[in-house]
Formats: sequence, structure tokens, C-alpha cells
Amino acid sequence: MKSVIDILDLSVEEINELIAIACDMIESPKKYSECCRGKKIATLFFEPSTRTRLSFEAAMIELGGNVIGFSDAKNSSTVKGETVADTARVVSCYADIIAMRHPLEGAPLVASLNASIPVINAGDGGHAHPTQTLADLLTIYREKGRFDNLTVGFCGDLKYGRPVHSLIHALSRYTGIKIVLISPDELSLPEYIKRDVIEKHGMPYYETTSLDEAIPELDVLYMTRVQGERFDDPEEYFRLKDCYVLDPEKLKSAKSDMIILHPLPRVDEITVDVDSDSRACYFKQVFNGKIMRKSLILKLLNEAESNPVAAKRPTRMLSANACSNNRCICKTERGLVPQAVETDEGLRCAFCETAIMQ
Ligand code: NCD
Repeated sequence: MKSVIDILDLSVEEINELIAIACDMIESPKKYSECCRGKKIATLFFEPSTRTRLSFEAAMIELGGNVIGFSDAKNSSTVKGETVADTARVVSCYADIIAMRHPLEGAPLVASLNASIPVINAGDGGHAHPTQTLADLLTIYREKGRFDNLTVGFCGDLKYGRPVHSLIHALSRYTGIKIVLISPDELSLPEYIKRDVIEKHGMPYYETTSLDEAIPELDVLYMTRVQGERFDDPEEYFRLKDCYVLDPEKLKSAKSDMIILHPLPRVDEITVDVDSDSRACYFKQVFNGKIMRKSLILKLLNEAESNPVAAKRPTRMLSANACSNNRCICKTERGLVPQAVETDEGLRCAFCETAIMQ
């Protein structure tokens, strides 16, 4: 039995298989309308969400299954002090699969280590968002027809934007990808992703603060919202929130077949008059996200039936409080022993991937 906590939990072959099923679902939705009859998904959303939660729920309903869950931590036993581990054990008795969003980084991993059903990470803090990446990949595939030989620009909040982190991980497995990182210094991509993902895979990249300079060479422009909710200092957020605004004027120097992606919600970083440009693909991305979630739910439920034993992750025990990230689940979850994974670049927290200083 498999959970999807990180996009790398899925191999390239598995992603190809999910895309093939997704394309068939688009062609013949009726064929899949009873596939999950009698099954339940629990959507456990400890953080606000519109599209991701509704997308999982619509996906399950279109597969003939049912939905239980909550959309606000205030409506859960967390307010009474329940741990993520206990919530996962309890919900395993009610549902067949869990989709969890949580403000603490690593919370869905903790859930997966304690649940007896598959867990899908629907976004954990500023860390990862693998099903948004599945939406992005299907959109790139349908619009560009390939994953190789693309110049992809990421613009805006690359520090806290979890969809950016997961998509860069995913792209690192294809060839001929060039990455352009467009952000103010304060919101630049975390070092561990630059070093352990981009540099490690030999992907050419550069960083710039100028969208105007970068835009002409891009095949894909991935715009992001500045993640106000993750700033410690609200003044810094107000200073940076409108750092990039994509408008028709800026698009004049872009390629005619460049595609514009955005995980949404959009605030001011793309003006509404861009929506009618044929390069704007962010609403197509929403549709593609629902289809990929259908494809993923079906795959994980089929696998759980044929192999009910949970897959184990390689971890090494570490002394307490080694992780320095205050947004990590290991800081608050009672009974959770901090653990680390060994990477070529040293030890990382097993839950949030922060480098462990020794
Ligand atoms: C993103 C998220 O929650 O990380 N939204 C989404 O899931 N579609 C991006 C964001 O909130 O800015």
C-alpha cells in the first residue's frame, strides 16, 4: 500500500500511467463512473482551501464514491489536543483513503505512518503539494505535448510556494529542462532545492529579479501568489505582495506558444485581462487537477486492495530537537521522535527536509 506525500513517491512510469488513465477519463468519463462505488475518501483540511478540497471531493464523486471530512481544523478534535497520528488512526476506521492538508510541514507524512489506508498530501505548510504537480504535469503534457526540452520560469514566492517546490522535483527527472527562478531576494527558492534538486540533476538554471528580462525565453511561465499566511513579519508581506504583476504589456515579449500556469488562487499577480489570452492555462489546470486526482485515487485504492501493507520509508533516528524549522510537525506532535534521512548532501529532517546541522 502506498501513500503519496512527495511527488517523488511516484516514479516517472507511474506518472505516465496516471496521465494515460487521465486522458482516457477525459475521453470516456462514463467508463470510470462506478469504479469507486462503496469507497470513501476523507478530506482532512486543517488549512483553508477551495479548489484542492473540492477537487478531491468532485474526483471521488465522479468515480462513484463518497466523501467525508472537514474543511476547518476548528471542526476537528485537534482543538481538543488530538495528535495527527491519532486522527489518522481513527479516520482509517471510517474511510478508504485520506487527503490531508495541514499548516505543519510533515503532518501528512506522520498521518501516513499511522494510518492503515493510503494518505495523499494535499499541501503541507510551505513544503510540498504533489497533487498540484500532477495538475501541472497534465497541463504541460496536454498543451506542450512533452516534458523534455522546456525552459520553465517560476515567478513570485519561490520560498513558501509549495507547488513550485514539488514541480521542480518532478521536472528534475526529465532531460533538457532549464529553470529560471524569478523572485525578490527575500522570496528566493530554498537552498536545499537549488542544491539537492536542481544542481544535483545538472539542470541549467539562473536567478533573476526581472520578469521582463526572463520572459522572452520561456516555454512555461509558472506564476505564484505571495503566501501572506506564512510570513512572520506582516510588513514584509505588504512590501513584497505585488512584486510581480503579469499583464498584456509584459506578455508582448513572450513566445506565442508560451503557456502561463498558476496554482490559484490568484490575487494581483496576473491581471484579469490576461485571462482571454490563448496562453493563459490556469483554469485548464483546475480541470486537469480534478482528473489527475481521479486517476491517483483510483490507482492508490486498487493498489491498497492488492497490497494492504504500508510501504516503509528509510529513516535514521536522531536526537530530539535537531530540526530547526518551527513550522515542522516534529515541534508539536506529542510522541513523535524526530527522525532524519541521509541524503548525498547530509542529513535532513525526515518530515520537512530542513538540513540538520551536526
Ligand atoms: C496553492 C496552495 O495551496 O499551495 N493552491 C492550490 O492548492 N491550488 C497555491 C496557493 O495557495 O497560493
